[in-house]
Amino acid sequence: MNRLDIKPGIDAVGAIDWDRRLFDSLIPTPDGTSYNSYLIRGSQKKALVDTVDPAMDYVLINNLDQLKIDQLDYIICNHAEQDHSGSIPMMLELYPEAKVVCTPKCKGMLIDLLHLDESVFLTVNDKETLSLGDRTLEFIHAPWVHWPETMVTYLREDKILFSCDFFGAHLAQSALYVQDGEIIYESAKRYFGEIMLPFRVNIQKNLEKLKDYKIDIIAPSHGPVHNKPEYILNAYHSWVYDEPKNIVLLPYVSMHGSTKDMVNYFVEALIQRGVNVKQFDLAVTDLGKLAIALVDAATLVVGTCTVLGGAHPFAASAAFLANALRPNLKFASIIGSYGWGSKAVEQITGALTNLKVEVLEPVYIKGHPHEEDFKALDRLADTIAQKHRQNGYK
Ligand code: FEO
Repeated sequence: MNRLDIKPGIDAVGAIDWDRRLFDSLIPTPDGTSYNSYLIRGSQKKALVDTVDPAMDYVLINNLDQLKIDQLDYIICNHAEQDHSGSIPMMLELYPEAKVVCTPKCKGMLIDLLHLDESVFLTVNDKETLSLGDRTLEFIHAPWVHWPETMVTYLREDKILFSCDFFGAHLAQSALYVQDGEIIYESAKRYFGEIMLPFRVNIQKNLEKLKDYKIDIIAPSHGPVHNKPEYILNAYHSWVYDEPKNIVLLPYVSMHGSTKDMVNYFVEALIQRGVNVKQFDLAVTDLGKLAIALVDAATLVVGTCTVLGGAHPFAASAAFLANALRPNLKFASIIGSYGWGSKAVEQITGALTNLKVEVLEPVYIKGHPHEEDFKALDRLADTIAQKHRQNGYK
């Protein structure tokens, strides 16, 4: 992010990373990202809320230099992950008088990850406050916004919530505030799906905790700032509370066309029965799209051919990812084909142990599908449509 004023004395001083295309060596970021950092100047003290990924620390340093900040009292660390904390050592070199303010758990993690000295810390309890003079920071512990140590920081007088990953989005844009609701919805849902989906219950608790606060602005540490916070709050509410939808996800991989023919037939069979389908060719798909879809779907059907006697590694990887994200799926199955023998069904079902799903009769066949195989796919489509109807999934 370029240096931008949110209000007099409150500046966004982080960095836009337009070119980043992969996060955690796993998560695609097709629209780049940003590492937002915020400088808050009170009448007596100055605080920096979160830093930036160390690869872009020069942007933060330059922004603080432009603002002529030669002294800093506090570095608020909402989250120990290095895309936000990684420039703390550099900030402490520039501002050795600053105290690092964080949860007790975060302190331990920062010592482990960044080798910070015990003496630099000021740990804060849940709802503890810190005065900057005419401005007051309140620290709200919000554990498991994908790591256990997380908190958010509420600036009382200005009603701004600095939420770090919570409500964030991997989206690079030059403007400070959200410009396009559809774009931010997709980016934020992608981010939610990729890292917060396994922690829906914790996110529910954290949303519940924030209900008591009047929030005019949500300033996350990735993506644009929300000056209409109800939009992202409502989106989160729906992602963590809504029942699954009448959707089947069908990630698949096929080598010579047999599994692909089954997928084509099965997708049509589901559509004819009023079931919505999202199909992903795992040879080319952006796994972030699969993560987005996992937020809402009721059923996962993995389509896989057989490689060396087992599931194709792409299919195994998709099943492993779905299992790790622990979405609210209710049903799962497998379709596909083998030449002379396969352990694919056991491998895929064995990879879904975190999910509380009913596994429906797989359709895993020898060779290219025959008439009876298509009939088996019809029966699987019937079962899914019936179960979705019975559960009232819309
Ligand atoms: Fe953006 Fe969990 O770090």
